[in-house]
Amino acid sequence: MLDRLLAPFRRADTPRPDAAETPAPPAAASPQPRSQASGGGPAQAATTRGDVERLVDTGEVAAAFTEAYGREPVGVWRAPGRVNLMGEHTDYNDGLVLPIALPWGVTLALAPTGDGTAEVRSAQRPDEDVRFATADLDPEAPLGGWGSYVAGVFWAAREAGHLPADAGARILVDSDLPVGASLSSSAALECAVLLALADAHGLADLAGDRPAMAVIARRAENGYVGAPTGILDQSASLRCTEGYALNLDCRTGAAGAVPFDLEKAGLRLLIVDTRVEHKLSDTTGGYAARYEQCTRAARELGVDALRDVEDVDSALARLDDPVLKDRVRHVVTEIHRVNAAVGLMRAGALGDLGAVFNASHISMRDQFAISTPELDLAVETAVAAGARGARMTGGGFGGSAIALVPEDRLDRVGKAVADAFAENGFRAPALRAALPSPGARRLR
Ligand code: GLA
Repeated sequence: MLDRLLAPFRRADTPRPDAAETPAPPAAASPQPRSQASGGGPAQAATTRGDVERLVDTGEVAAAFTEAYGREPVGVWRAPGRVNLMGEHTDYNDGLVLPIALPWGVTLALAPTGDGTAEVRSAQRPDEDVRFATADLDPEAPLGGWGSYVAGVFWAAREAGHLPADAGARILVDSDLPVGASLSSSAALECAVLLALADAHGLADLAGDRPAMAVIARRAENGYVGAPTGILDQSASLRCTEGYALNLDCRTGAAGAVPFDLEKAGLRLLIVDTRVEHKLSDTTGGYAARYEQCTRAARELGVDALRDVEDVDSALARLDDPVLKDRVRHVVTEIHRVNAAVGLMRAGALGDLGAVFNASHISMRDQFAISTPELDLAVETAVAAGARGARMTGGGFGGSAIALVPEDRLDRVGKAVADAFAENGFRAPALRAALPSPGARRLR
């Protein structure tokens, strides 16, 4: 069914049959045109566990490694992208988030070396090999491009005292995640590299500590790449589990797994990639501005973080700037919506999540001002065509929306969204249906 629905988009969106988006980072660090970063052939529909398993082909990646480097890798690792079900722009406010891991991600093969150098090749970017000496990495002069995400992990792992000076690697990266679609392709790359390094170099204290790994992967992004993001994406990739959403407290790092059995509920999660690329690593852009506004509002309110605002109305009465009032209202109510969503999921009332999705989208559109005409159209059209609810997901300013759709309305909703985009002169969206999938892991 979904195959039929997706077929026309595959033809338009898939630049090459063998896959896969580049594993690279958001646009600011990446010269790649967005047109190469959409759609992914048969990988697009993953509505059964079998679909998900078929996406993971470790044999090909290991063989590509051997061809590239003339030796065998010691292992193959995979780290997924994510969609966040609820809790947007709450992570850097010490709040709550609720992501699931996607069936799509970054797969890499690695062999450790003791020569203090790294060589990294990408199946998606055969002309852009990356090489660096790990001792020379300088966050004041990052490598740039997709290599920054790999180099940043070496830098952050060394800074944290985990990676010895002479630890190097040969790496081959493959990816079936689109870039710039708010599905965390950069975090997937960072987490795959970090997990592989920890395993292959025997960093035992790190390898068993997923929360600590998420902190290091985030530090790579903040401290080396220069994107002022929170800890949502890296935690999702490293800590999510199959069939569950991750209810994460971003202040304490405490997390619980919340059942999200879409199949049992007769629902599907449709991801609408608007193919308007979002950018996070732009320190003067909208994401950084939201971060700054939230920090300023917390300071004016005399709290450590907006998480600590207890009574929203009295907090708003103490602020003069109407923009800050809007930002605070979103963050505080969004944290409550995470709790509401978790309650409904624990009660097995997945369909009722739709109303919370809708409220969250309106808050992001009107109070936090991070939506776009394409995201609004995707959300409104999906709901009008029979979705139980829909919202943009991730950082905003482009990227993807998610819709909770009864199984038997998936075709109708997907077609309605695609038609509405065409009627409005927008690029054809890329449509994917996903199940909550396993977090980062060693495959062999
Ligand atoms: C991006 C960032 C995350 C988070 C989300 C919004 O994905 O990387 O840290 O702030 O946006 O929820």
